[in-house]
Amino acid sequence: VLDELGAVFRQELDFRLEAERQRWFAAFHAGDPKITVPRVVDGRSGPRVLTSEWRPGTPFDEACAAPEPERAAWIATLWRFVFRATLLGGYFNADPHPGNYAFGPDGHVTFYDFGCVVPTRPERRILAQAMHRAAVAGDVQAFRGAAGRMLQTRGGAYERIALDYMVEAFAPLFRSPYRITRSYAASLLAAFKESAKEAMKVPEDEFVPIPEGMLFMNRLQFGFYSVVARLDAEVDFAAIERAFLPDGAGAG
Ligand SMILES: Nc1ncnc2c1ncn2[C@@H]1O[C@H](COP(=O)(O)OP(=O)(O)O)[C@@H](O)[C@H]1O
Ligand SMILES: [Mg+2]
Repeated sequence: VLDELGAVFRQELDFRLEAERQRWFAAFHAGDPKITVPRVVDGRSGPRVLTSEWRPGTPFDEACAAPEPERAAWIATLWRFVFRATLLGGYFNADPHPGNYAFGPDGHVTFYDFGCVVPTRPERRILAQAMHRAAVAGDVQAFRGAAGRMLQTRGGAYERIALDYMVEAFAPLFRSPYRITRSYAASLLAAFKESAKEAMKVPEDEFVPIPEGMLFMNRLQFGFYSVVARLDAEVDFAAIERAFLPDGAGAG
């Protein structure tokens, strides 16, 4: 876990890498009319400088004060940005700071800051797709199966604790349309801490450390949910994902 932390935070200091990832996100979302990723100005960027085209927008605090239909449209765009890239692309952005978004009319969002980006491995993407597909379909059994493979659990109390937590974390999909509230986001963090404490008490052969790549997924989850909670609107998250999730044929 410490190795992974060190590697990702060191990468954040390399602006050539950040520029490369900003270009990747711009290309990946190019077909989405609600998403803007500012263009990198190549001739004015290098290892210690990153220059982008100037694309300002409404800041987060003002967006939070807009009427609910507008807030719901922004949440839908944020959700697509995060989960299309995570589930179908090769990267996710693990820095969901509210300052990294700017808001525009009709659900339009501009995204900045690709310093903390984590690659996703193809085999994990397939498992993550299976988890999302099961949650969208409301199939708890299939979801627990896929989540157990993702977390590499080995049965027993630890598996039960970890999977109970995962089901709760996917409530926005299971119970869609859903309003991610501040109290839901806070209860999830409390449940995570509680399950970590419980996990200390299980027999040693049942315990599985967080698999590589999952650490920053947690950071994304907590940060992203608290951003969505502050926008505070009911959204049909399952419908958003149904529109882009592959059907899973042959992806067992
Ligand atoms: N291309 C851009 N157009 C307009 N504003 C930008 C642009 N890029 C960054 N910003 C503004 O600058 C702030 C800091 O940039 P960011 O890339 O997030 O750096 P940091 O790593 O310091 O968080 C952003 O929160 C945003 O308000
Ligand atoms: Mg930033």
